[in-house]
Amino acid sequence: MNTFKLFLAGASLLALSTSAKAVDLEVTHWWTSGGEAAAVAEFAKAFDATGNKWVDGAIAGSGGTARPIMISRITGGDPMAATQFNHGRQAEELVEAGLMRDLTDIATAEGWKDIVRPSSLLDSCTLDGKIYCVPVNIHSQQWLWLSNAAFEKAGVPVPTNWDEYAAAAPALEAAGIIPLAMGQQSWQTSLAFQVLVVALAGSDVYNKVYGDKDAELAAGPELAKVFEAADKARAMSANSKVQDWNQATNMVITGQAAGQIMGDWAQGEFAVAGQVAGTDYTCLPGLGVNEVIQTGGDAFYFPVLKDEAKTAAQGELAKLMMSPEVQVAFNLKKGSLPVRGDVNLEAANDCMKKGLDILAKGNIIQSPDQLMSADSLTQVNDLFVEFFNTPSITAADAQKRFADIVASAD
Ligand code: GAL
Repeated sequence: MNTFKLFLAGASLLALSTSAKAVDLEVTHWWTSGGEAAAVAEFAKAFDATGNKWVDGAIAGSGGTARPIMISRITGGDPMAATQFNHGRQAEELVEAGLMRDLTDIATAEGWKDIVRPSSLLDSCTLDGKIYCVPVNIHSQQWLWLSNAAFEKAGVPVPTNWDEYAAAAPALEAAGIIPLAMGQQSWQTSLAFQVLVVALAGSDVYNKVYGDKDAELAAGPELAKVFEAADKARAMSANSKVQDWNQATNMVITGQAAGQIMGDWAQGEFAVAGQVAGTDYTCLPGLGVNEVIQTGGDAFYFPVLKDEAKTAAQGELAKLMMSPEVQVAFNLKKGSLPVRGDVNLEAANDCMKKGLDILAKGNIIQSPDQLMSADSLTQVNDLFVEFFNTPSITAADAQKRFADIVASAD
């Protein structure tokens, strides 16, 4: 064969392999805030670089809105190629119904068991010994984010723990600052409550209540203390009328509010606004009381598809999401920690470094999504929306209702 024919044969082979490979994959997620969009763009960029195309299926309105849409598309026979869920039990029924792709062969070939830490992240993807998802980050909900400027304006030092923060509320209010920013999406008040449980009653109590469903403990004095603090948080956030979590974060960024109890995805918003951890804002893991990291976060699942080329591309995407470069690029923008310990995080900011230290010490707990079924958590979320919006419900009333939910939770 002469050189020209060889060239032609090579060119057509190349064309064949790219056309067999290059497919569009629709990926659904609920990452629509500034920081989230910047982070998800890193996945898209890396996937597009393989010659395939990331078709972005962002669903606005956070997880509570997105998940029912995702689930009904998958059960209704119109699956996307990949979708976000939180680590844990949200996709359990879809996996049991055989609608999610088994990724065990990829996970084994890529050595995920040796790479992913803590191992509970991969356990949350595992059902009957098979791996069904790619954990992409460690997000912890256990954080308080504070505006340094707001405290300066109120003439009080930036607090170092929950009690100091609560004590600063009158001075903040006198300076026209809302002490606590709280969005009204149902999961946000529930998040604040479980962060208070871990900080004020401790990780063991949290594990027993959310994990073992210990209703007696939920009704007892340790939780009564937490409900009193939740009552205080309700008063501190009474004038915070925003809906979305990132609108509440924005109130802290602009100094209209002094603080927000929120997961570390809030960091993505501070970063997009050009604010610097330690200088413009302060972060207190475990509300400065019980420094602990929750090792929940986000995972991607791949619905079973009948299309061979798309199935192959799903595998490429799964591997890519776990690759060291993509793990670093994505997590730096997202405000989360990578799921692998062997990556270079020199660029991590002060708050991420605090998170990494806590992780290294092993002060970790699982997220409510890993411990409780989605149905039970919906009941908990509903209770806290009602509590935060109805001052006439006393802390004691709410505690009783919470203990009843725990008693029948699974
Ligand atoms: C969580 C998710 C985070 C963040 C947050 C707010 O469920 O784990 O990645 O996006 O929702 O949208």
